[in-house]
Amino acid sequence: MKRAPRRIADVAITTGAGFFTKGYLMKLQNKVAIVTGAATGIGQGIAIRLAKEGAAIVVDYVGKPRAADETLNAIKSAGGKAIAVAADVSNPQQVQAMVDEAVKTFGSLDILVNNAGIEFKHPFVEFPVEQFQKIISVNLIGPFVCAQIAARQMIKQGKGGRIINISSVHEDLPMPTNAPYCATKGGIRMLTRTIAVELAPHKITVNNIGPGAIFTPIDADVEANKALEDALMAEIPLGRWGKPEEVASLAAFLASDEAAYCTGSTFFIDGGMLRQAGAL
Ligand code: BGC
Repeated sequence: MKRAPRRIADVAITTGAGFFTKGYLMKLQNKVAIVTGAATGIGQGIAIRLAKEGAAIVVDYVGKPRAADETLNAIKSAGGKAIAVAADVSNPQQVQAMVDEAVKTFGSLDILVNNAGIEFKHPFVEFPVEQFQKIISVNLIGPFVCAQIAARQMIKQGKGGRIINISSVHEDLPMPTNAPYCATKGGIRMLTRTIAVELAPHKITVNNIGPGAIFTPIDADVEANKALEDALMAEIPLGRWGKPEEVASLAAFLASDEAAYCTGSTFFIDGGMLRQAGAL
């Protein structure tokens, strides 16, 4: 009979470098992480990977009560520690309650991953301003509020910390019909740079991950349209979608002690998209 794995580090994962075998030294033992928007997509991938590295995870979600169950079950069934908390990232009271819950349940808060984000593609000249406000609220006010409340907690603890924002190649690269999204990602670029400097004396690092086209629900419209998908793939020198697990590998590094000297930067993971030379 096959013995059930006792520790998450004993579980071999099917994607990635295959180093999750017995004896692998976990990067995030005794750390506690909040991952916002962790019910699906990149957030889900990061939550699972940080748990595999030994961190206890707060799976933030909005919407349906059971929305985060898939992430929670994946972590728990592999022997990891996690709770799910419903919190709107742009609401300071709800975010404070989530941080308090993390500290009450797991004893501290060491890592914040600001992943929650939305986009809505529509021509600029017709873009409804209410939609723009909603996108700003989730994509930019959210990371501001979460980082502020998490940083206060990290400063109180006095052990430093890690704040990782999931930005996009579109913090640099224009994307027609997606002006509000691009504007928020441009905003997060300077939020990161500025607060990285302010929080450095507390040994709290702040970095952005800038994914390109990652295969997640946010791009369901592109995946459903072959012509759009082909056009997108033509923009990517590596010629394929990225995987949430690949973004999660970078997040695991940035969240770890190994990344202690990285702060105020964006780390792009885009299959070369930003360096595409087109027909040249
Ligand atoms: C956007 C996707 C887009 C990708 C590459 C992401 O930030 O959410 O819609 O396909 O960037 O352009």
